[in-house]
Amino acid sequence: MSTLDRMPEASRADETIHPHDTDRSTVKEAPLSSGRRSRATLYITLIAAVAALGGLLFGFDTGVIAGAMLFIVPHFHLGPAQQGLVVSAVTFGALFGALVGGTSSETIGRRWTNIVAGVSFVAGAVCSAIAPNVDLLIASRVLIGLAIGMTAVAAPMYIAELSPARSRGKLVSLFQLAITIGILVSYVVDRALAPEQAWRWMLGLAFIPGALLVLGMIAMPESPRWLLKTGAEKAARQALSLVRSPDEIEAEVREIQEDLGRSRPAAWSELLMPGLRPALLVGVGLAVFQQVTGINTIIYYAPEIFQKAGLDSATTALAATIGIGVVNVLSTLIAIWLVDRIGRKPLLLVGLAGMIVSLVAVGAAQRFGSMIGVNSNWLAPITVGFVGFYIVCFAFSLGPIVWLMISEIFPNRARARAAAISTAANWMANFLVSFSFPVLLVMMGPSLCFLYAAMGVAAFIFIIGWVPETRGKSLEEISRQWRTANP
Ligand code: BGC
Repeated sequence: MSTLDRMPEASRADETIHPHDTDRSTVKEAPLSSGRRSRATLYITLIAAVAALGGLLFGFDTGVIAGAMLFIVPHFHLGPAQQGLVVSAVTFGALFGALVGGTSSETIGRRWTNIVAGVSFVAGAVCSAIAPNVDLLIASRVLIGLAIGMTAVAAPMYIAELSPARSRGKLVSLFQLAITIGILVSYVVDRALAPEQAWRWMLGLAFIPGALLVLGMIAMPESPRWLLKTGAEKAARQALSLVRSPDEIEAEVREIQEDLGRSRPAAWSELLMPGLRPALLVGVGLAVFQQVTGINTIIYYAPEIFQKAGLDSATTALAATIGIGVVNVLSTLIAIWLVDRIGRKPLLLVGLAGMIVSLVAVGAAQRFGSMIGVNSNWLAPITVGFVGFYIVCFAFSLGPIVWLMISEIFPNRARARAAAISTAANWMANFLVSFSFPVLLVMMGPSLCFLYAAMGVAAFIFIIGWVPETRGKSLEEISRQWRTANP
């Protein structure tokens, strides 16, 4: 149980206004006429879908490079160092993009940060598609990375700040659903364009969702929470009126203003002060655990893993990889279905348990299979099966819920900056894991799975001990609880 979950009822000063019952939506949100409710629901779903296009690009641009490299390498006669630079340019860009996104979400707002990210996605797609030399290709990939980092901070936060508490979980999880769709589309595009060796088209196609993101976001309202922070109360009410019923607006505006009025916006350095540190620890911890449990060794290296496990032809290995992409998309729907019903923590814990079991099973089968008499014909199906199960478990837990919680656990006055640091930590960990994987695999062999499993155990303990449950609570209520727990 986290500090917040452990707080005695009596110490929750504000809880008298909003009792801590299991379904807060029924207490806070007055009944809507069904017409109004469905219009507001439709509109907020549209807003979330448009912002989630950033996730689609995140997934597509990180996934597409594996297939494109097969042709980029001979085209530009790249050596190993240049190859590494082309692939990791996105990761470096994203690390800085996250920090840029944190600052710009504060200054120009959430909506404009998403628009700027969209413009960078478009520019990066065009420039990488027409790059005459490898330097420009690397620069374009850095630009795409910047856009990914910005969108990873701004899109989930924007969706969270416009969503009603009762459905915030599933709406923000659309961002992860879009990432998984982007990864799947990139696998399919790579495969479809491989016969023509059309790597420029593989990279350039991101232009389409990029343009849709820019045009879509221009038509969307700004986050009411950011507007109130800048004193634009009328515009905030207008934005809220699109996604709430008239009788809900007043209470929500008052609740946000009360939260904002308590303290001034937090500077970067303040994030480490005792008041904000526990929330930052949770954000950074979740972000890092999402990566160090090994997800991207499979997302980035699946064909090699399957070939080593015994799927003989490259075509079968690629087909298995596309299968993994489909499983990733479909299993994310489980989170969308359950995250507002049973909560974030149960999904995180069940998913992690499944990931740990899968990692141990794959490691044990590969390492000790022949010793304990497992028929070698069984090794490939066992590996593919457990890798698939690992993906299922990640897709309904650490995948969506980490981005969701980063968007909801921080108070209004610190959300953008703290989300930026958590997202940058996520990309840093992503880089370390994918960079070290080939080397560690040579050093440790299949035992590497046990290392990722041990990280999973640490994540499990961290979630039980430190991560609060946020289901059904308004963003301001979550922030009040941190204040009460860390006065
Ligand atoms: C992670 C990515 C990962 C993807 C896989 C995302 O939540 O941040 O690193 O590649 O999920 O679906």
